[in-house]
Amino acid sequence: MKINFVKTGRWVGATALTAVIALAAGQDEAQVKNEKILNTSCTTCHDLRKIQTKALDAEGWAKIVNSMIEMGAKVEKADIPMFVSYLEDNYGPLPEGNGKEIVLNKCTVCHDLKRVRQHFATPEDWADTLNAMQNEGLMISDDELITVLRYLARNFRQ
Ligand code: HEC
Ligand code: HEC
Repeated sequence: MKINFVKTGRWVGATALTAVIALAAGQDEAQVKNEKILNTSCTTCHDLRKIQTKALDAEGWAKIVNSMIEMGAKVEKADIPMFVSYLEDNYGPLPEGNGKEIVLNKCTVCHDLKRVRQHFATPEDWADTLNAMQNEGLMISDDELITVLRYLARNFRQ
């Protein structure tokens, strides 16, 4: 988009604002469409746990989506790139290491992985967050708790 700076400041402002609103509306539309694909096309053969317990980059998700389509999943060809980047955004990769499996299995029960991947904190704050999760109902052994704390504090450090 090209903004004509010869016009008044107000005109430029209004145009930029309109563009922002249009962009946000477009994103909402894509979000709705992606969620619809996920909740209809991807739940006819298995539940969402298979997806929630995977953490992959775009390439990994593209492979999965293509193999699901081969098995019979109904996704429009034109929607694949958009859907793959949605999957990457919400179920994106986790660093390798001891603790990854615990995060995948235990931390995706109440909310998606995005919640965890977007959170960067000091080791002390991670310990507080994990205690808060236990209060919410997270079931985890003491050993697992220590492993997962180390993993998070190392990989998602503020
Ligand atoms: C026609 C049935 C069917 C549909 C529809 C389907 N799946 Fe699957 N999916 C399967 C089967 C069967 C497996 C188990 C076999 C396997 O792991 O390769 C599987 C496994 C998976 C796995 C685990 C793969 C792995 O390597 O551990 C993921 C992730 C997955 N599906 C994602 C999706 C997504 C995303 C969609 C929607 C685009 C989808 N599935 C739609 C049949 C389907
Ligand atoms: C029993 C349900 C449950 C489980 C299991 C769970 N959480 Fe949560 N989590 C919540 C709830 C509910 C919130 C929202 C709390 C709030 O917003 O006050 C939350 C929020 C969070 C947040 C955001 C906190 C913030 O301050 O913004 C992070 C990070 C988080 N969880 C990490 C984890 C990790 C890591 C695990 C696995 C070890 C986990 N959660 C497992 C229920 C759970």
